[in-house]
Amino acid sequence: MTKKLLRALAGETQAVPPIWMMRQAGRYLPEYRATRAEAGDFLSLCYNSDLAAEVTLQPIRRYGFDAAILFADILLIPEALGADLWFVTGEGPRLSTITEQADFDKLKGKDDIHDHLAPIYETVRILTRELPSETALIGFAGAPWTVATYMIAGRGTPDQGPAHALKDGNRPLFEALLERLTEATIEYLSMQVQAGAETVKLFDSWAGSLKGADFDKYALEPAKRIIAELKARHPDTPIIGFPREAGEKYVGFAKATGADCVALDNSVSPEWAAEHVQVDGCVQGNLASSHMVTGGQALIDETRHIVETFSKGPHIFNLGHGITPDADPENVALMIETVRSHAAD
Ligand code: CP3
Repeated sequence: MTKKLLRALAGETQAVPPIWMMRQAGRYLPEYRATRAEAGDFLSLCYNSDLAAEVTLQPIRRYGFDAAILFADILLIPEALGADLWFVTGEGPRLSTITEQADFDKLKGKDDIHDHLAPIYETVRILTRELPSETALIGFAGAPWTVATYMIAGRGTPDQGPAHALKDGNRPLFEALLERLTEATIEYLSMQVQAGAETVKLFDSWAGSLKGADFDKYALEPAKRIIAELKARHPDTPIIGFPREAGEKYVGFAKATGADCVALDNSVSPEWAAEHVQVDGCVQGNLASSHMVTGGQALIDETRHIVETFSKGPHIFNLGHGITPDADPENVALMIETVRSHAAD
């Protein structure tokens, strides 16, 4: 096993950590914008296997990242389950909402998603052929809670208010939705692994809005079930968990869920995370994505600081969240150069 990313996930400490970047295929790259225009729109790009593979490869060609992440979206699962999904330019996703039992009853079952998602599995197969031999391929899905927040509200929300309201107002319906998403996510990720994904990442972008026992029941527990089932089916495939903005709930997350790596957002300091999270194994993160806009010495200093602070254990360098469309591609090159020259310091 020589790929740097897989070595980190297996627990190896490396002088130069592997590096990739959330949303590395995205609007900050002119070549991405051109391919998206060719596809027509974002969703057409996701379902066009050749073009989705092409945009996945673009940042690998440009920067030589150690990993490629499948180009798709966490909201394809709701669509596969029968929800309507569309994107409003400049605003974000829109979906048909789930507010009562009748909405839930219209959803398809966990085994009925694969026809709809077949183009995604095909993208994975193309990538297994076309990626450089040193580049690992990451599959992914949204975690049940995060996907449910979009399905319930029909859009992104600043505080996940509608999802919390359903959780507290109609718990059986809320839990039935989480259960369906948990089952469908297992099938979806399992198919990505069968198609050639070498690791998978579970994005719980809104985990931080679940507090106390709610975090344990609706972030931790579904992750644990998904990981246990994937490990039963694919024992050699490592799994990355990303309970974004979990704060002190990052502590023990890997042990409690069975995740091989915990991705950190930049609300936690590297010092704190090295002491409390990296003690249990590999961590990923956690440069603020704003540095990709501002660049300069601050980018260099903070990148070095993160590499140095996590250097005593397994670490995958990444941002704390996705790169934004206003980022300067030159700053990405500067970040990579800074990480890779670290060992020579
Ligand atoms: O990281 C990658 O490069 C892989 C592809 C990927 C996308 N979305 C492509 C995308 C991944 C892993 C995601 C995950 C995703 N999608 C999350 C979890 C991670 C996170 O950012 O918190 C969430 C919450 C979504 C849902 C989603 N998709 C939203 C809210 C939006 C609109 C906001 C925005 O940035 O425009 C999207 C659109 C989206 N997904 C884009 C990309 C490249 C931009 C669409 C475009 O090209 O217009």
